[in-house]
Amino acid sequence: MVRWFTAGESHGEGLIIIVEGIPAGLPLGEEYIATHLARRQKGYGRGGRMLIEQDHAHIMSGVRHGQTLGSPIGMTLENKDWANWREAMAVEPVDNPDPDWKGRRITRIRPGHADLPGAMKYGFDDVRNVLERASARETAARVAAGAVAMRLLEEFGIRMRSHVISIGGVFASPQEADTIDWQAVEDSPVRCADPEAAERMVAEIDAAKEAGDTTGGTVEVIAENVPIGLGSHVHWDRKIDGRVAQALMSINAVKAVSIGPGWDIVNQRGSQVQDVIEPVTDPDHPWQRKTNRMGGTEGGMTDGMPLVARFAIKPIATMTNPLPSVDLDTGEIVQAHYERSDVCQVPPAGVIGEAMVALVLVDAFMEKFGGDSVQETRRNYEGYLKTVGPRKLYQ
Ligand SMILES: Cc1cc2nc3c(=O)[nH]c(=O)nc-3n(C[C@H](O)[C@H](O)[C@H](O)COP(=O)(O)O)c2cc1C
Repeated sequence: MVRWFTAGESHGEGLIIIVEGIPAGLPLGEEYIATHLARRQKGYGRGGRMLIEQDHAHIMSGVRHGQTLGSPIGMTLENKDWANWREAMAVEPVDNPDPDWKGRRITRIRPGHADLPGAMKYGFDDVRNVLERASARETAARVAAGAVAMRLLEEFGIRMRSHVISIGGVFASPQEADTIDWQAVEDSPVRCADPEAAERMVAEIDAAKEAGDTTGGTVEVIAENVPIGLGSHVHWDRKIDGRVAQALMSINAVKAVSIGPGWDIVNQRGSQVQDVIEPVTDPDHPWQRKTNRMGGTEGGMTDGMPLVARFAIKPIATMTNPLPSVDLDTGEIVQAHYERSDVCQVPPAGVIGEAMVALVLVDAFMEKFGGDSVQETRRNYEGYLKTVGPRKLYQ
């Protein structure tokens, strides 16, 4: 079992990450994690915060001489912006009489953010106490944890990808995953494989920004080379599709998740949507299919095809042209609070989605293959692969 935790506020001193259950002997370094953190920081439509931060996770435990020890991997990730918020986010009480002080109470609740339910639930009279943790700054910590997961999955040939399908109603032309130029996605300002659509997405983000508004969209995450049989049909909370859906839905502002094309196929006939199994000709690659409409899962288990999940992310709640709202103290009409914010968070959401799916897969992978060292996990994995062909031919 792989467990992980994050801690940290958006403008606090930094983020803390603990990943536990990674076997010993995995090559891991800070630079690898930094590559993924840098991918999350990019994307057209992001606010000024990303110009301040240069995310780098510092490994404090669980790694020695470039290899994991099997002990919990502890990391810290500094918030450079904390320098501007030291007093407003101080651990000790602060009394600052300046009416423009950053630490002043926030009471103008934003519809669409965690402000109102968070303040009610935790008994706060200052919305900052909620928004600091509800902020997607926390997703940097998820990407650091996800990078550790990806490093282990890579040892077994599993690779994570993601690309943007739509932003603000502009759709990329549909493309099979195996024809996508992944370097072009990495180089695209909106992480979209279709350069013509990418230009229109950028224009849509500009138009939303001009109007003081924000824009959302959809993203696809793909895990390639996933072995058959991760997850289980035997109990609801072990089903891999359910675990992936929960993980993706937990990303800030995600409002819908599908495994494979999901909504696009449910109104077709059964004969049009199942993925027909091909006759086995290659013992090393049994159980091939020409299509992957089930997104690589059947019965709550991976089926040997790439695991594909899509998610829809809503437009951001904080707008330079704020919606009317009400004041937390009086209940009277005010304009919702604004503080520096993204206009579109869809491009980085793909990188966060990769991390979340990797964390689910690594958990399911270790559940299936176990092992306290990578060598032991590999022995178990290779032994299992020898058993997955047609029963009379390969056993
Ligand atoms: C990468 C990323 C960046 C985000 N940036 C912002 C932002 O700058 N401003 C904002 O109001 N919401 C932003 N959000 C969304 C909020 O965090 C989210 O809407 C809020 O926590 C409420 O949660 P909910 O939308 O899931 O209900 C971002 C989300 C992601 C994934």
